[in-house]
Amino acid sequence: MKVDVLVGLQWGDEGKGKIVDVLAPKYDVIVRFQGGPNAGHTLEFNNIKHILHNIPSGIFRENQINIIGNGVVIDPVIFSEEIKTISALNVDLSGRLLISKKAHLILPSHRILDQASEKAKGKTKIGSTLKGIGPTYMDKTGRNGLRVGDILSSEFIKKYQYLKEKHKDLLKLYDFDFDIEILEKEWFEGIETIKRYQLADSEILINDFLDKNKKILAEGAQGTMLDIDFGSYPYVTSSNTICAGACSGMGIAPTRIGEVYGIFKAYCTRVGSGPFPTELTDRTGDQLREKGKEYGATTGRPRRCGWLDLPVLKYSIMLNGVTQLFMTKADVLSGFEKIKTGTAYLIGNKEIDHLPFNLDEISQPVFAELKGWTTDVSSITSADDFPRELEDYIRFIEKETGVPVTLVSVGPNREQILTRKS
Ligand code: GDP
Ligand code: IMO
Ligand code: MG
Repeated sequence: MKVDVLVGLQWGDEGKGKIVDVLAPKYDVIVRFQGGPNAGHTLEFNNIKHILHNIPSGIFRENQINIIGNGVVIDPVIFSEEIKTISALNVDLSGRLLISKKAHLILPSHRILDQASEKAKGKTKIGSTLKGIGPTYMDKTGRNGLRVGDILSSEFIKKYQYLKEKHKDLLKLYDFDFDIEILEKEWFEGIETIKRYQLADSEILINDFLDKNKKILAEGAQGTMLDIDFGSYPYVTSSNTICAGACSGMGIAPTRIGEVYGIFKAYCTRVGSGPFPTELTDRTGDQLREKGKEYGATTGRPRRCGWLDLPVLKYSIMLNGVTQLFMTKADVLSGFEKIKTGTAYLIGNKEIDHLPFNLDEISQPVFAELKGWTTDVSSITSADDFPRELEDYIRFIEKETGVPVTLVSVGPNREQILTRKS
């Protein structure tokens, strides 16, 4: 068996949580392979709205095993809060949630370092979620990190103290008040919560599952434009969010990859700083934000909104090897008289159809204009009933990208999903 991978093709928040929840019954195992609690993956069903941060989005289905892979960075405090809210909904977690021993731990001092670094950057701040993601990955690549498997070592406290002192020294570089000790009690309680779950050599387990013909879905976090190598650097996150990240973040060979599902919003959003070529800072942008309820699932910040950006989509499809496209939030575009789509960029007078090294060089996007539709599509139950203009919009995207759009989401609920024959 192969691993199917779902990745975001824009700047995150494409609706990954919802789609993983929809697809989960077709799989035996769901694995998160990178990122951490910077992610906010929203699921809605039976009048419940739930936002997941560390835990994979297959957790609300009954029979699926959920694995937090080695590429993830995990905050014990946020993890145990998630466990509490999920358990309160009577979800049986026993034997269904596993954590890689090789996943890295976010320390309270990582969170403080993130805050201090952002404050020091002033206007050039990344707009980080302040969850300690950057500093934790820095310690991972700097070979200083603490891993989940270390919890089981008798040296754990010593290792923790050593790293904490190192961080305290680093914090002297910043003009930033902090009190690490006050955060430690709940952090160590969180460590106890983690210990209640199976800490696994998940790379071996995952490959065993594949050999036994189990179906696995890898759940990406963030989006391709936030990838550490290919995103709008330095306004990116600190992990490889692209499909290749699934190989290193769960321990599978590239030959094990099956379908690559690329998920995108029918328009574009971004939360945090950095270039966004098709951004709308006018009333239309406000309308998209209000209709699409575009406020961050993790931080509550208003998301910046704009039209779909085809050069971004094509670049992301190339990097991920996308085999099927899933479009979300089609319902949000209902009622817009005209729908625009970025097809190229102008740098001065020169038109280019690819992403330049520095996105800030783009003076403006070139737009194609399509006719909008007025019908509310949120309660449509067959893709055959799409208004003509929505079908034209999808076909335009398929023609431009060369990849079929096989799923269309028309609302936040689990049921609001339509399969499309191409
Ligand atoms: P993720 O990070 O990719 O999982 O996405 P988020 O959960 O951060 O943001 C997506 C938001 O859109 C959430 O509030 C979802 O409930 C909502 N959502 C997902 N799909 C749809 C859709 O098709 N239509 C509408 N209106 N909302 C959607
Ligand atoms: P999901 O999985 C949207 C953004 C932050 C910031 C930059 C770096 O829900 O799609 P970080 O905290 O990672 O150091 O922040 O990346 N960012 C996200 N934006 N969705 C996310 O995750 C994000 N995770 C990080 O806003 O601009
Ligand atoms: Mg999100």
